[in-house]
Amino acid sequence: MLAVIFKHLFFSYGSIEILKDVSFEIETGEYIGIIGPNGGGKTTALKLMLGFLTPNRGTLKVLGKTPASVRTRMGYVPQINVYDKDFPISVLEVVLSGSLSHLNWRGKFPKEVRERAHALIEEIGLSGFEGRPFGSLSGGQAQRVLIARALMCDPEILFLDEPTANVDAKSEERIFNYLKTLQGKKTILIVTHNFDAIIKNVERVLCFQHEVFSMLPKDVCEHFAIGMYHKPGEHSHD
Ligand SMILES: Nc1ncnc2c1ncn2[C@@H]1O[C@H](COP(=O)(O)OP(=O)(O)OP(=O)(O)O)[C@@H](O)[C@H]1O
Ligand SMILES: [Mg+2]
Repeated sequence: MLAVIFKHLFFSYGSIEILKDVSFEIETGEYIGIIGPNGGGKTTALKLMLGFLTPNRGTLKVLGKTPASVRTRMGYVPQINVYDKDFPISVLEVVLSGSLSHLNWRGKFPKEVRERAHALIEEIGLSGFEGRPFGSLSGGQAQRVLIARALMCDPEILFLDEPTANVDAKSEERIFNYLKTLQGKKTILIVTHNFDAIIKNVERVLCFQHEVFSMLPKDVCEHFAIGMYHKPGEHSHD
């Protein structure tokens, strides 16, 4: 089954057209990198796939259904630039919040849910950090906690929106190495501006510039890495 289908999809915020006649398909289990200039529509596309926005025209299917109806089968690591450093929530609580539907009437999570949270925290390399305030973590550690949170529902599709922005090279490598362990088991879509990581890791690249182009990592043009996006095969001569 196809994980995602976009067919002649159009989306605007008011009169501003963001996605224009976009068509592409993603196979189940594919590892996809999403690139493109600022404002190209990457985050908007993820929000459409998560069912937070609806297309103006065209078809969008996720896991063969309308996006909102399969939201519990998707995990999402949103693009964060700032978060409240003083918000009093522990690492364990952030991870558990990915499983809110399991909260019982007493406001407690069942034992197996807590065990899963601890296991995921260990998997992402943050054992011992469970009780630490989330706000005290480094950017890279915080991103890994948010990945664990997104995995609490054991999603079939994992969306990550720039999880390595504001993260140092070593943490970034840890994040990509961790995603490698999920490869094939989950469909992964990751938005990133890191071209080295994309070329090394993903199986296919979708470039969003209001329209969408599908490329193999080896065909990603070096111009893109310096922000000079163009259509595939169409080089700018300056
Ligand atoms: N809620 C909104 N209302 C109006 N315009 C919006 C809204 N959200 C985003 N936009 C605009 O839509 C365009 C696409 O935004 P989007 O966030 O999808 O871009 P992006 O490709 O994720 O960019 P970036 O690399 O900066 O994250 C931008 O010009 C943005 O300003
Ligand atoms: Mg974005």
